[in-house]
Amino acid sequence: MSPTANLEILAILEERRALVEEALKKYFPQGKGLESRVIEAACYSLMAGGKRIRPILCLLGYELFTPDPSKIVLFSCGLECLHTYSLIHDDLPAMDNDDFRRGRPSCHKAFDEATAILAGDGLQALAFYFFTHRELRKKVKPSRLLKAINLVAEAVGFTGMVGGQMGDLLMEGKKGNKRILAWIHEKKTAKLFSASLVSGALLGGAKKNDLQILNQVGKKLGLAFQIVDDLLDLIGDEKILGKPIKSDLKKKKLTFPALYGIETSKKIAEEQIKSAISYLTPYGEKAKPLILLAEFISHRLN
Ligand code: IPE
Ligand code: IPE
Ligand code: MG
Ligand code: MG
Ligand code: MG
Repeated sequence: MSPTANLEILAILEERRALVEEALKKYFPQGKGLESRVIEAACYSLMAGGKRIRPILCLLGYELFTPDPSKIVLFSCGLECLHTYSLIHDDLPAMDNDDFRRGRPSCHKAFDEATAILAGDGLQALAFYFFTHRELRKKVKPSRLLKAINLVAEAVGFTGMVGGQMGDLLMEGKKGNKRILAWIHEKKTAKLFSASLVSGALLGGAKKNDLQILNQVGKKLGLAFQIVDDLLDLIGDEKILGKPIKSDLKKKKLTFPALYGIETSKKIAEEQIKSAISYLTPYGEKAKPLILLAEFISHRLN
């Protein structure tokens, strides 16, 4: 990636990130009673500075078809809540047992396990509260909103992220094969990527054909993203990553580098990115931010 393209994508990401951050702060609930602790725990993880890739994908999907993504910022916030909930639970001792996340102690370390479980549960519910928020309902067509919520719910549920996480845990220490690995990565990561991009496009008024194309784009970006995540577990810098490295090794996870080796994994991730970009190119200038984001995914260090 050229230095100018890099600066450009950073500015695009920063602008969308600021929009999401601001709305998360504005709409996050406050508690005065006994619930304060779990709200504080959820806020601790949510506001710890994630990359906000999923909400940004949603905003960029919308922008392919309609200007002013601030109209759907609450929907994108819901996606970030779902993602953060998945990270809080993913770090629990019963799952990946990781003590560090987003550059600070994981939720269950800063608070305790029960609070972390509840913080995740609360964030999942908050996502659907945001998806159906009055402010959002004023700005988008109800039929589009219902479809978008339906596809996101599927993407994070039993046949999506939760199912993928189950597969990831069941395959710890097992030999596995390429088919199972592709299945896990598609479910645990690519489905939410795809649903983020497609829900944004749907809210922006995209038609069936575009939705099908963007579904493919999202899946390819998600798979590449998870392959790079697997690689960073081996060759990343813990300080830049903000989470422990060698965690997959310790847990004997079924990952791309474990099955294909580092170089082939890099190649597969790059092929996915190239293919995603080839689907986006026909959209012209409007797809430029998404293309830059795709390039960012393959070159990212955190
Ligand atoms: C981490 O996601 C979990 C994976 C699916 C690899 P991110 O790398 O997007 O995490 P944050 O949101 O930036 O912390
Ligand atoms: C997590 O994958 C995917 C989720 C759905 C949370 P990982 O377990 O590899 O994510 P990290 O490396 O802990 O961020
Ligand atoms: Mg995991
Ligand atoms: Mg993990
Ligand atoms: Mg990982």
